[in-house]
Amino acid sequence: MILLRALACQMPALLLTVGLAYWLPIFHHPIVFLFSQSGLAVGGSLLLRQPTWWIPIHLLFLPSVFVFFTLALPAWWYLFIVVTLTLIFWGTIRGDVPLFLSSSEVAQAVITLLQQEHALTFADLGAGVGSVAIPVAKNLPETQVEAWERAPFPWLISAWRGRGLLNYTASRRNFFAADFAKYDVIFAFLSPLAMPDVSEKIKRKMRSGTLFISSSFPAPDWQPESILRMNDRRKTVLYCYRID
Ligand SMILES: C[S@@+](CC[C@H](N)C(=O)[O-])C[C@H]1O[C@@H](n2cnc3c(N)ncnc32)[C@H](O)[C@@H]1O
Repeated sequence: MILLRALACQMPALLLTVGLAYWLPIFHHPIVFLFSQSGLAVGGSLLLRQPTWWIPIHLLFLPSVFVFFTLALPAWWYLFIVVTLTLIFWGTIRGDVPLFLSSSEVAQAVITLLQQEHALTFADLGAGVGSVAIPVAKNLPETQVEAWERAPFPWLISAWRGRGLLNYTASRRNFFAADFAKYDVIFAFLSPLAMPDVSEKIKRKMRSGTLFISSSFPAPDWQPESILRMNDRRKTVLYCYRID
C-alpha cells in the first residue's frame, strides 16, 4: 500500500513530464526534466498526505537513477547500495519510521529525567544506533536499559556500542513485542503516524505512576505532564506523559 502510494506519486509525475517534454523543448534539458518530475512527485506526495520524509525520497529518486546510469557503475554496486539501504531503513517501505538520530542534548535531558524518577528500568522504542540508550546505560549503571530496534544495521551498531555494558540489552525485534509494564520510563522518537498505536499501548500497559517521553511528536488526545524544549539543531521538543 505504501509502495503503491509512492508509485502513485512517481508515475503520474513521470508521464506528465514526458507529456510536457513532447510539447515544450525546454523539458528536453535533463536538469529541467528531472527536477520537474521530482517537483511534481513531491506535489503528489503532499496531495496524498504521505509523511514528510517521503519528500526527499521523491526529490532524489529520478535524479539518483539518472546519475547512477550516467556513472555506469559495475552491477554489484547497485546490489550493494540496495542491500545497505535495506538493512538501514528496513521497515520504512512498510511505513516504519526512518532512522533519525537524537542529539546529545536529548540524551542528557533523558538522563536527568531518569535520575529525577529514580528509574531502574528504561526502554527506548526504536533505539536506532543507541544515541539515547547508550549514554543512558553509561551514565546510569543502576538502570537496566533495553534498546528495541528492528532494522539490522542500526541494531548491530547499537549492540556493538553496548558490548561490555552489563545494564544494556539491544533487542532486534518489533518493540510492540516488549512488555511495557516492566519499565519505569519509556522513551520513543518515532513519527506522527506511529503515535496513536504506541500511545494506546503505553496507556494500556505501562504501570500507573511511570513516565513516557515522546521526542518531537505529541501523543494524540493526551495532556503532557511537562514539555521540555531542547536547544539542539532541530530544536527538539520532549513531551512527558505520566501514566494514570
Ligand atoms: C527516528 S529513529 C530514532 C532512533 C533513536 N531512538 C534516537 O532517538 O536516536 C526511529 C527508529 O525506530 C525504528 N523502529 C520503527 N518502528 C519500529 C518497531 N515497530 N520496532 C522496532 N524498531 C522500530 C526504526 O528502524 C528507526 O531506527
